[in-house]
Amino acid sequence: MFLACVLSPFVALTAYIFYRVLVKPRFNVLRHLPGPPVQKLFGNHLQHVLNPTVTPKVYELFVQRYGRTVRIRGLGPWDERLITLDPVSFAHIAKNTAIYEKPWPSRRLITSLIGCGMLSAEGQVHKRQRRVALPAFSAQNMRSLVHISFTKGIQLRDVWKGLIDDPSGSTSARIDVCQFLSRVTFDVIGLAGFDYSFNSIQDETNELFVAYRDMFELAISQGTMFRTLLSIYLPAVNQAFPDATVRTVRRCQEVIHRVAGRLIQEKKQKIAEGEKLGEPYDGKDLLTLLCKFRYRLLLCIFLIDLPPEHRISDDDILNNINTFMFAGSDTSSLSMTWTLLLLAQNSDIQDRLRAELLSVAHQFPRDLSELSEDQIQSLHAALSALPFLHNVTRESLRLIPPLHSTLRVATQDDEVPTMYPVHNQDGTVNEKRHSFVVPKGTFVHLSVEAFNLDKAVWGEDAWEFKPDRWDNLPEAVQQHPWHFSNILTFSAGPRACPGLRFALIEIKTLYYILLTHFVFKETEDKITKHNVWLLIALRVLTRPYLAGKFKEGTQCPLLVSNYTGT
Ligand code: HEM
Ligand SMILES: *[C@@H]1O[C@H](CO)[C@@H](O)[C@H](O)[C@H]1NC(C)=O
Repeated sequence: MFLACVLSPFVALTAYIFYRVLVKPRFNVLRHLPGPPVQKLFGNHLQHVLNPTVTPKVYELFVQRYGRTVRIRGLGPWDERLITLDPVSFAHIAKNTAIYEKPWPSRRLITSLIGCGMLSAEGQVHKRQRRVALPAFSAQNMRSLVHISFTKGIQLRDVWKGLIDDPSGSTSARIDVCQFLSRVTFDVIGLAGFDYSFNSIQDETNELFVAYRDMFELAISQGTMFRTLLSIYLPAVNQAFPDATVRTVRRCQEVIHRVAGRLIQEKKQKIAEGEKLGEPYDGKDLLTLLCKFRYRLLLCIFLIDLPPEHRISDDDILNNINTFMFAGSDTSSLSMTWTLLLLAQNSDIQDRLRAELLSVAHQFPRDLSELSEDQIQSLHAALSALPFLHNVTRESLRLIPPLHSTLRVATQDDEVPTMYPVHNQDGTVNEKRHSFVVPKGTFVHLSVEAFNLDKAVWGEDAWEFKPDRWDNLPEAVQQHPWHFSNILTFSAGPRACPGLRFALIEIKTLYYILLTHFVFKETEDKITKHNVWLLIALRVLTRPYLAGKFKEGTQCPLLVSNYTGT
């Protein structure tokens, strides 16, 4: 009797696990979809769909063998997933944010690091966060971003000039462009976000900079698998027995709270004073905007009672700033890094782009630091109108999207439409079948890269760097407008990237300053792509590494020399 009492919970648990892991999945309707075989009981396909050195080939094989709606294996037999290579399905999933959410474990991890901002919120909270933050990208604010980007570009130019000035007489320097560009984007978003100067191009010891950098590094290397699982499933236990990771996060958060908290207080004071004196404070940074939004709400409260979900607190403000730091720095700097590498590998294109940029440069004073505010704005307007600069920029964004893929989970059963017919499991194709069912709880992999590199859309040369393709796009490309220029790099739907214009201004300004002053060449080292999964594959970033030297960390050394032509 006693033994039975002790054992029965075990038996029940074992039976339950057995049922969930091995029996229930057999009745999953996803099993009716075709997909690659699993070699071992606990084998999976995550490497195949997330490793950028193989993904283009893998996606191509999938389409040939299984069509564009493919079932893959996640962490184990209980985890059947879907990867869609069908544009109509992608659009459907991206559009229906009420059904397809970001998976909660990923959201919990982001929230534990940077708070619940636009990236991790869902539903009404997300809508409100987005509405509050969108004016930060207004045309007027973009004007001040132009100024900030120029200032930072000139600073970078001067630092690199110093590195090239080598007493040993060599005419070029080996520079890790990745590291410097990442500091540029940090500085830019610091000024545009908080009106705060990290000054990290010249000095990487700023307390707040270090706090953010260390914390974002942790998002990549979430310690051991065990601690990661603990922090997701039992956060209280994780906090009660802090390991090095938990302690680092705490230290970083303490700094961010203290320094950024002070900035928020100062900003509120300036705005309040402005209101009192009748001279509204007109800071252009995101922080000012968020504080003003709040201030206006406070004024309203005397007239109507706002429900709590419409108020925005100091914490909300801080979470939004953190989100911008997190979402807006790495992505832009990676894209610029890949472009410089592509230009180093294609010197003819580099020369053509430089010639186009110089045609604008000649209309302005030679010394960039002498430009007046109006001249900076008209220089930027001239850059925005340059066709080849635009073609190189988007060709690079197409070929190597910094955000390789993202993840969603279905919160209810749903019927998903497709453009291409869905294949049956036995390989036959029913030409009339243009939808399939996704059961509640299914993880859906959305690969940006798969669409950007699709040969059926872009043609046989889809995997090559060819800026001139934009002169004459195949008809199939134009069927998919997406969020930017027929590519999925900035995603699509209500959760597409709000920072698109921000990124383009920053990127084009930097290309202008760098290419009119420097020539880029490859070193003898081979650079490879590697995907870093942030937050359990919610953000899969494609970063450069030296082939075979993964341990040395992300880097992209190039030979940089002065441009001496006229
Ligand atoms: C080349 C640069 C950039 C690329 C390729 C890029 C790409 C993307 C993509 C693909 C998403 C959707 C992610 C998902 O659905 O899981 C996204 C979201 C987002 N991006 Fe960007 N981004 C870039 C620059 C920026 C910048 C400069 C900012 C801010 C200043 C920014 C802020 C955000 C935010 C806040 C979100 C979340 C939006 C939401 O969930 O509603 N991004 N970005
Ligand atoms: C490159 O230009 C900078 C400043 O214009 C100069 O100080 C440096 O000596 C130059 N380097 C070489 C190798 O010519």
